[in-house]
Amino acid sequence: MGMAVADLLASATYAAVRFYIFWETMLQKSLIDFSAVLPKAELHLHIEGSLEPELMVALAWRNKIEIPFKSVEDVRAAYDFSNLQDFLDIYYQGMGVLQAEEDYYDLTMAYLLRAHRDTVRHVEIFFDPQGHTDRGIPFNVVADGILGALDEAERALGISSKLIMSFLRHLSEEAAFDTLKEAEPYLDRIVGVGLDSSEVGHPPSKFERVFRAAREQGLKIVAHAGEEGPPDYVYEALDLLRIDRLDHGNRSLEDEALVARLAEEQMTLTVCPLSNLKLCVVDDMRAHPLKRMLDLGLRATVNSDDPSYFGGYMNANFAAVINALDLDKDDIRTLAKNSFLGSFLNPEDIAKHIATIDAT
Ligand code: HPA
Ligand code: ZN
Repeated sequence: MGMAVADLLASATYAAVRFYIFWETMLQKSLIDFSAVLPKAELHLHIEGSLEPELMVALAWRNKIEIPFKSVEDVRAAYDFSNLQDFLDIYYQGMGVLQAEEDYYDLTMAYLLRAHRDTVRHVEIFFDPQGHTDRGIPFNVVADGILGALDEAERALGISSKLIMSFLRHLSEEAAFDTLKEAEPYLDRIVGVGLDSSEVGHPPSKFERVFRAAREQGLKIVAHAGEEGPPDYVYEALDLLRIDRLDHGNRSLEDEALVARLAEEQMTLTVCPLSNLKLCVVDDMRAHPLKRMLDLGLRATVNSDDPSYFGGYMNANFAAVINALDLDKDDIRTLAKNSFLGSFLNPEDIAKHIATIDAT
């Protein structure tokens, strides 16, 4: 008799657990569907990091460049990183297939078409001029190819865009000054400057002067900080570079006073969940700080960083955090709104996009 009751209880518990899992899965699925159709802006995207293995192999053929991979599968198999530098080594090697203006056009158009499928309505993309000019590709070849695609996609897809030029922080400040000088004919088409590449050992303070010069030319300022580097680097980005937006910023959470300041200033953080997982900034998506950031009042956004290398574009990043974290519908809406609030669009356009989100 006691056995039968125990069996009954066990099977009732089992049924309840099964139902709970089913219910949670349905809720997550409906949140993912919701996030997939919301209008969004992407604010942290390295165009060179959107180079898919198929295009890499095709451009290697077209440009008669040797790459150390036998097949597309071979390229994908190499994308197993344990930190930022591991990734950067492959990322700089990959961009070597980009040579002609049409290569940059094809790369950028492929990304824009893909982003458009994820209902991304506005993009602010980074490019790394030094990753190209240091290989002998003229600045104008790179910029004309990217800008040509941005213009065409605005006409054909209705996706608006801005371009941000990043300085490679493992190189010298003098090299960054040379790049700023080279960019002069394009400054009406470049909204701002950023700072990327190997973070630890290359603090924002190394680039204080060149960022001041950029700011004096009316450029917006963004910087990667607190991805692998300590909270001090975030303070330097705020106080010395005087950033308008913080790229990544994860490690800010280690410093309570810094969190309070970022919340107070309504500083936008361009968070990149799948990137954080691939580069071991987090060990498990369930440990990702995105939900904590929102709860702390930080203006966090979701972005794909280098989608070809990290396994997903905008909507895949949303799906990953919805599956792993306890996000509700308001959180998803907030993330989408934050992406426009944190953009360099004018206030009228921001209001228009936010109205669309409220109506979705
Ligand atoms: N961090 C630093 N540098 C980069 C990244 C990144 O996530 N992606 C491309 N360059
Ligand atoms: Zn980045």
